[in-house]
Parts: sequence; C-alpha cells; structure tokens
Amino acid sequence: MPVTKAVIPAAGLGTRFLPATKSIPKEMLPVVDRPAIEYVVEEASRAGLRDVLLITSRSKKAIEDHFDREPEVEATLEAKGDQVRLARIRSAMSLAEVHSVRQGRPAGLGHAVLCAASHVGHEPFAVLLGDDLIDERDPLLEQMLAVQERFGGSVMALMEVPEEQVSLYGVATVEAVAATPSDRYGVVRIRDLVEKPAIEDAPSNYAVIGRYLLSPTIFEVLRDTPPGRGNEIQLTDAIRTLALLPASADEPVHGVVFTGRRYDTGDRVDYLKAVVRLASERGDVGPEFYAWLEEYVSAGGPKADPTT
Ligand code: G1P
Repeated sequence: MPVTKAVIPAAGLGTRFLPATKSIPKEMLPVVDRPAIEYVVEEASRAGLRDVLLITSRSKKAIEDHFDREPEVEATLEAKGDQVRLARIRSAMSLAEVHSVRQGRPAGLGHAVLCAASHVGHEPFAVLLGDDLIDERDPLLEQMLAVQERFGGSVMALMEVPEEQVSLYGVATVEAVAATPSDRYGVVRIRDLVEKPAIEDAPSNYAVIGRYLLSPTIFEVLRDTPPGRGNEIQLTDAIRTLALLPASADEPVHGVVFTGRRYDTGDRVDYLKAVVRLASERGDVGPEFYAWLEEYVSAGGPKADPTT
C-alpha cells in the first residue's frame, strides 16, 4: 500500500527557545521568512504525501491558523495588486490537505503518534518531526519511501553522530544490507533500539533523526507500550518492539543512513546556521545578505569595527 499520509507532531513545549516560545509555538519561528513547519509540510508534499496531520496542543493555535485562509490579509493584498505576497501566503495552503488533532497532555512522542491512529487507519504512514529540517536538495524521504516499497515494514532515518552526542537521540543496533544502484544513502537493518542511552550503553553512533515511515501495527504496539525514558511513552520503544519481532511477523525495520544537510531548528546554534545558510542561498535576499556576511566576517566578525 503506498504511503500518502504524513503525521507531524508539534505539541512540544519548545523550552530550548524560551522566552521566544513563551507564547509562540517553536514551529512558527521564521527561517528567513517562512515558519519552520512550512518547510516540513513542503518536504512531505514534495515526496507525494499530501495528506498531513498536525498533532498540536492547546497553545499551538497559531500553527493551525497558518495553514488556514486569512481573508483579511488576502483582501488587502488583492486591493493593492500585490500578487507576489498573495502567492506566498497562499502557498502554505496549496502544499497539502492539512488536518490537526490535539494531544491533550504531554505524554511523549509515542503518545503523540498514537493520537493519529483514527486519521491514519490501517495504512503505512510517515512521521516528520518539526524540529528537523532536511535540505530540499537532499532526497531523504524519497529514498525512505523506496526502501519501504522494497522491504515493507517500517523505515527510520539515521545519521552517524559524534560519540558525545548519542545521549540526545534514539540509537540503533544495525546490520548491513546489500545496496542497490539507486540507493543514494546506505541502507541497514535495525535489530535493536535504545532511547537516549548513556555514552557507555550506546550500541553504536547511529542516531535516529526525525523521519520515520511506520507500519500501522505501531498503533497496537503503542497502546501496550509502558512509559519509558522521562516517564513518557516513547516512539523508539514501540519501534524496538517491532524490530525484535520474529521474521514470521513480517514487520522488518530498516534504516536509511542520511549524509545530507540536516538542521535541528530546536537548537539555537543550528537554527541560526539554517537561517544563515538558507538566506545566503536564496535568489532574492541572498546576494545582498551574503555580500554583507562576507564583509562582516572578513572584518573580524564580532571583533569587527562596530561601524561595519
Ligand atoms: C526524539 C526521539 C529520539 C530522536 C530525536 C530526533 O527526541 O525521541 O529518538 O532521536 O527525536 O530528533 P527529542 O529530540 O524529541 O527529545
């Protein structure tokens, strides 16, 4: 069955970005001039997943509004004949059919995904975490879909990280899988998983990043998954249950080892890198911004003469 639905959990509190995120959802922080979550919806849409379910919470109304019409602003732009801005604000809505459901209490990523059960039904589906931006030139989701088609079951995105960072991620025990010529990134079979292990307990440096294609069996497993790390229902623990099933269950879990550009926009430094890089590469603001950046850096950056 082809994957057509994407679930985007966006109920988290965004404490790493306080005070900016006190009353604004972290997913709405702008990356150049579009909220971070719009890039994620666009990534799903580009890969053909045009049914998007946002898992939000009480304080995230702004995200739902962003994917809705704004008649007042549209009428003003129309009266001014500002077609460029009109097209820009309408683009968010043309990307996908966006639905939302609320997670009533912050009970973990696994619990958030379980909130999607009735919308998703009995089909494989994607989960895209809003904090992770994958550069649009790097076709991670496309390859994950191809791997899911090849093997069935579930597929997760992995990235090799430095040893000192393993405790920030789910970490996988992996086994090599023969490559096929169309594979851009390596493919592995996932044999075991652990959520945010201590360095000494990490089975590898293959970290789970925020892209998953999941078999609908995950919902049954999540219903029986007890709270894990941080007393939350962990998605990693439920996928581990699938990975440990015998071959007869036909629920394999594979990993695509991503080597492209990923920005964790929940982290302040990574967020700034994403803004600088994407702004520099843009056709409109890029040339002027990058020329300034070069001048600023060659003048010594923070040590530069303040009149620069
Ligand atoms: C979540 C997952 C973790 C994964 C990470 C990727 O953690 O629980 O397994 O490695 O996303 O960003 P969070 O970053 O929400 O704490």
